[in-house]
Amino acid sequence: MKNIITQWILLMLTGCILVTANLTQAAQELNLMPIPEQVVQTHSSFRLDEQFTALVQGNPDNRIYEYTTNTLRRLAGRTGLFLPQDFITRSSKCEHPRMEINVQRPGKVELGEDESYQLLVTETAVTLNAATDIGAMRGLETLLQLLDADEKGYFFHTVEINDRPRFPWRGLMIDACRHFMPVDMVKRNLDGMAAVKLNVMHWHLSEDQGFRVECNTFPQLHLQGSDGLYYTQAQIKDIIQYAANRGIRVMPEFDIPGHATSWLVAFPELASAPGPYTIERKWGVFDPTFNPTIEATYTFFDRFFAEICTLFPDDYMHIGGDENSGKQWDTNPDIQAFMQANNIKDNHTLQSYFNGRLLAILEKNHKKMVGWDEILHPGMPKSIVIQSWRGRESLIDAARQGYRTILSNGYYIDLMQPTAFHYLNDPMPADMPLTDQEKQCILGGEATMWAEYVSPETVDSRIWPRTAAIAERLWSPGTVRDLADMFRRLNITSFRLEELGLTHIKNHDMMLRRLTNNQDIVPLQTLVELLEPVKIYTRGAQRDYTSYSPLTRVVDAAIADAPVAREFCELVDNYLAEPARGEHSAEILKQHLQIWKDNHDKLLPVIKTSPILAEIESLSLDLANCAAIGLTALDNIGQHKRPDKKWLDEQLSILKQAGAPRAQTELMVIPGIEKLVRYTAGH
Ligand code: ACM
Repeated sequence: MKNIITQWILLMLTGCILVTANLTQAAQELNLMPIPEQVVQTHSSFRLDEQFTALVQGNPDNRIYEYTTNTLRRLAGRTGLFLPQDFITRSSKCEHPRMEINVQRPGKVELGEDESYQLLVTETAVTLNAATDIGAMRGLETLLQLLDADEKGYFFHTVEINDRPRFPWRGLMIDACRHFMPVDMVKRNLDGMAAVKLNVMHWHLSEDQGFRVECNTFPQLHLQGSDGLYYTQAQIKDIIQYAANRGIRVMPEFDIPGHATSWLVAFPELASAPGPYTIERKWGVFDPTFNPTIEATYTFFDRFFAEICTLFPDDYMHIGGDENSGKQWDTNPDIQAFMQANNIKDNHTLQSYFNGRLLAILEKNHKKMVGWDEILHPGMPKSIVIQSWRGRESLIDAARQGYRTILSNGYYIDLMQPTAFHYLNDPMPADMPLTDQEKQCILGGEATMWAEYVSPETVDSRIWPRTAAIAERLWSPGTVRDLADMFRRLNITSFRLEELGLTHIKNHDMMLRRLTNNQDIVPLQTLVELLEPVKIYTRGAQRDYTSYSPLTRVVDAAIADAPVAREFCELVDNYLAEPARGEHSAEILKQHLQIWKDNHDKLLPVIKTSPILAEIESLSLDLANCAAIGLTALDNIGQHKRPDKKWLDEQLSILKQAGAPRAQTELMVIPGIEKLVRYTAGH
């Protein structure tokens, strides 16, 4: 009996292992991002040919016809197949459709709408079922990700997918203030968002450095506060429609009472200290702040939001609320007297009073208030939404107090941190210390693209591909956390995003051509792909930037999470885990190191004729020297030589110097080389 039970347990265990292995296998074969909730792979193929046609049935919103048409154009673009259908409309006829899209009802572009879908791909047909056309759009993106090719042609992997998002609020914040972002930038990024199933564009539209919306009630705002760089109302409506056609909400942010210099250029009388004010050109936290103690402020916002709440149809209005320095409040005797008279004990409470007054205005205009975590104050009603940015504690605090909340702490893509860091940052990890009811308050998260150090030319390379990894965190089950598989799929996702006009890959070479004045870019490329911009807030600390500083240097061409450096360091780890069996790894490591050792001689003449590159000359030389050290270390390991402590100390000292940032970048292969050196010396 015991034997039978043991055998049975063994059988079950083996079964589990097989199932797990199959799932891993399936995930590895498919290049889906975000990974759907349920995927059953049936290991065959639907062959794509020039008979491929689509039919949309049911009761969708009209936008699904345009989305389906675009899907066909993208398929045709990738495959070169002359697909037979023109624009697909509600009245399009299709005799023998190869793809059927069945939609029950028009989706509403609002928080919590049903985005689920079911996608069945067999050898002979594609069937996509969804409650709403927004769910159908998510399914069409999955279908596009199932496209593959072999010697026989293009095909979709056969699958049965049941999918829906883990969180209802999955956003990207675009700061269009520090540097203005043209309509084209916004649209191509909306396309990218739709491709990875994000559903909120949070549009940061007012700041110390610019007021970016045409305002009819107070035209002075955009005329005096924007240097002429603002969105017309027609452009805003166009963008909102463009987003809605992709099932994406547009939530505007007007950041008050601090971060408000550009408003006060035209309305100094609403400030808490006498003007005049000019548009801010630097980065940081500045003092100009609305005066929350005068009625004129609320009369102004009453009229402002009456117009703006009509312009933006989303249910939610973000009022910022972050980083109010409070200095103007501290030094204004009238404000101090107001606080005393009204028993307001500190600036936080005064800001909460201001928020309460604004809330009444927003509610009158049928909006719900969203703000950065500074707006969390016990006096505020539970209808407001808290965006956690200073630490994830504010997310937990908010949820515990019954406020709905979204996470941005850990998703600050402007800080140039690694993809893995963002990817593993979960709004609701398995050990989240909240009750089930409190967990309901966590709506999701948003990546934030603050624009101090990006221009329209570089911004895509900061957003993508890392935001695709964040999108997966917000859509896929929390158990999807395999980094190696994520990076494999991210590579493919990144390249696919290019078909939407995103410039994160193609602008790189263009920038290198400009940096080298159209000389051979390969040696520069070899160095730059090992560099990362300095992280967190170091860039601004190392050099004074203004809104008109160039963003065309090597640091701007370098990207976060430099893939070649990351792969090198991973390979070092794999090799050192078992050097005796790592001949192949050693060979690849040597090839890399040899190229880097030789690169300086090739790059130096380019640097000498491109003054903008002078700042990287020592980095280039250091790379060559460190690569030589790495080669020696590898040889030693291969030949079981153990150098002495003196050698080790000398090499470590050279590596340490080479690791120092220059040109606002860091050489990311140093840690890998250091591991080789320490290993060979037995440390
Ligand atoms: C913020 O990053 N100041 C919200």
